[in-house]
Amino acid sequence: MPSFKIAVLKGDGIGPEIVQSALQVLEKVGELFGYSFTFEEGLIGGVAIDQKGDPLPQETLELCLKSDAVLLGAVGGPKWDDLPTHKRPEKGLLGIRKALDLYANLRPAKVYEPLISSSPLKDDIVRGTDFIVVRELTGDVYYGEPRGVFRENGKRVGINTMRYTEDEIRRVVRKSFEIARGREKKLTSVDKSNVLEVSALWREIVQEESKNFPDVEVEHLYVDNCAMQIVRRPSSFDVIVTGNIFGDILSDEAAVITGSLGMLPSASIGDKHALYEPVHGSAPDIAGKGIANPIATILSASMMLRYSFGLTQVADTIEKAVEIALQRGYRTPDIYTEGTKKVGTKEMTEAIISA
Ligand code: NAI
Ligand code: MG
Repeated sequence: MPSFKIAVLKGDGIGPEIVQSALQVLEKVGELFGYSFTFEEGLIGGVAIDQKGDPLPQETLELCLKSDAVLLGAVGGPKWDDLPTHKRPEKGLLGIRKALDLYANLRPAKVYEPLISSSPLKDDIVRGTDFIVVRELTGDVYYGEPRGVFRENGKRVGINTMRYTEDEIRRVVRKSFEIARGREKKLTSVDKSNVLEVSALWREIVQEESKNFPDVEVEHLYVDNCAMQIVRRPSSFDVIVTGNIFGDILSDEAAVITGSLGMLPSASIGDKHALYEPVHGSAPDIAGKGIANPIATILSASMMLRYSFGLTQVADTIEKAVEIALQRGYRTPDIYTEGTKKVGTKEMTEAIISA
């Protein structure tokens, strides 16, 4: 039986509750399809600070490096808010992302028909929306040198540098073509090549790579135009690929049109490792109450099956089960509307498993 080793980092707040749900779903599909998943737990974030004095203990790092993939809940909470920045739970997250050399962040924006009214957009515009934003994570204006605030003729000047090497662009573009090939075969590359040289290079590399993917249709959009088109014709997109700073902004824009934070999964992918986690945080306001929405984490586990293990059919099955549970009216309080069945984390998980 094919077997996969998953590092499980539950973290803080609702982390343990929602990750537990995802593990149950993984066990169920393992049974159904004949795969074995082994889960090994590691400490990260606040709970790791409390037990080991370090938000990312060495043994957690080693566990992640030797696993086939990492599933993470969320970190942080008011208990650790007064610690200095370099000792806070979030430091654990940044550390793990860096150590695993993750260069592509994937954020799907999918509108589930039973939840369509929670979108801030009109039903007719948002119906059928199902795209994914691929954001480059390692380069761009966040890391380029020179950077800083300097003095020039007695006045302060702030400088950051937008910088991308050819290889950094190529690997994320290639990954995006591959993802598009497994979906609707449409790739939108987003840049600002009318004014930025970095973007002109970006566009050139997309065009070069497109020769290796003749079956994928390519569209180029300027980032300002793309920001408009995401709210005007969201259902026309399939895969959007862009650099770090444009991706930071567009992936949040894409997230909000679905209307439900508790539904949003994410993946961060490198050549050797990958980490899967919900977009939301540790929700300390509802932690321990048994009412957290587990769907974002369950869908993150589904992305793991799709992108790390190549188990497309199993991933599709999980996504279908989520849809069916929603169609049957099950709702955690964060997505509840009148006329549906309000349930807790456990019942929601059971509804998905039974679907
Ligand atoms: P948050 O995403 O934890 O919560 C925002 C709001 O959404 C809250 O009202 C919360 O109850 C609700 N919510 C979030 N996830 C939910 C779910 N699955 N089901 C139902 N309701 C849900 O963001 P917030 O409040 O800004 O941050 C709380 C803590 O989480 C902070 O310590 C923050 O630093 C940390 N955080 C961690 C992240 C991570 O681990 N990747 C990401 C964002 C925040
Ligand atoms: Mg952001």
